[in-house]
Amino acid sequence: MTASTLADNAVRLSFAGGQVVELHPFVLRDACPCPSCSNASGQRLFETPAVVPHARVATVDFDGDTLRVTWADGHESAFDGGWLEDYARGLPPRREPTLWGSELAPPVERYDDVVSDPATLRRWLAAIAEYGFAVLEAAPLEDGAVAAVAELFGHVRVTNYGRIFDVAVRVDATNLADTARGLSLHTDNPYRVPPPTLQLLHCLASSATGGETIVADGFRAVGLLDPHDRAVLASRPIRYSYRDASAELAADVPVVALDARGEPGALQLNNRSKGVPAGSPAEASEWYAAYFELLALLEAPEAQVVLRLEPGDLIAFDNTRVVHGRTAFSGSGERRLQGCYADRDALLSTLAVLER
Ligand code: OGA
Ligand code: ZN
Ligand code: ZN
Repeated sequence: MTASTLADNAVRLSFAGGQVVELHPFVLRDACPCPSCSNASGQRLFETPAVVPHARVATVDFDGDTLRVTWADGHESAFDGGWLEDYARGLPPRREPTLWGSELAPPVERYDDVVSDPATLRRWLAAIAEYGFAVLEAAPLEDGAVAAVAELFGHVRVTNYGRIFDVAVRVDATNLADTARGLSLHTDNPYRVPPPTLQLLHCLASSATGGETIVADGFRAVGLLDPHDRAVLASRPIRYSYRDASAELAADVPVVALDARGEPGALQLNNRSKGVPAGSPAEASEWYAAYFELLALLEAPEAQVVLRLEPGDLIAFDNTRVVHGRTAFSGSGERRLQGCYADRDALLSTLAVLER
């Protein structure tokens, strides 16, 4: 392995396997892992603009697979082979989602095992991270059990619907979820900024006929969209809104949000609370064509996993990746779910700690 500085202010590293990586010296100075530049948990101890603009390389050399840099001001930095490899690969890999359709057997664990065994909790959380949802069986038929499950990995996100909320038929329902109507595939709370990234629904009673739960992988559908339609949905905000006696919420967001790499980052889709596209008739026509294409992809039988939640079953899903809905149910018998919201960042953090 050799290291050299180039005339145009780059450091060139040639690895044994023939790979060549070029880095700007600012990158190396900014990333210096020495104890005076970075604390034990990796937090930077200097302000980048106070140090980096003055960074000039004096010497670079490999010592085994460690790259040693001496700077013109005498500071020394050492980068191990692992860091160099990660850097050469680009941004550190995030958890890649596994996309799915109706062929997926829903990941499921038992409540008692998840509560008592960290390895099972880890498996359950890893399934939510990978597929965007997982089921828990035989959770206690108790008020608030849903929040206790959220607290196994994170915190409940309180909203205008409370810390936990009941989904049950109410005569004075302001939210159509509290009727026996079917609910088309949707994101909850798209009118919040940001919307909750996780939702948990716990079934307490399900003797009514119907009321099956449907989930579909929004990221898979966005991946299948025609690129022009994807760009239309990603670039035109829609106003989502909700109002009742004590809340008046609104958010202007695109139905599809792409991340900085152009990959699907979030879906915000909800027929009940959706506004209409702004713009000319031609723009509206383009938007509706794209929107209907996305809905067709989500509603295709091969896209959907249908499950019936029985009392004790709980489903946890990524509210901005997996869209969910339910079929209508009949007035006879009882159907009651209790739900709460939480956030994905805490789940991913707990999972990463369990995986250490
Ligand atoms: C909701 C909802 C699902 C169900 O309340 O937002 O999606 O099965 N409910 O009732
Ligand atoms: Zn340093
Ligand atoms: Zn919902």
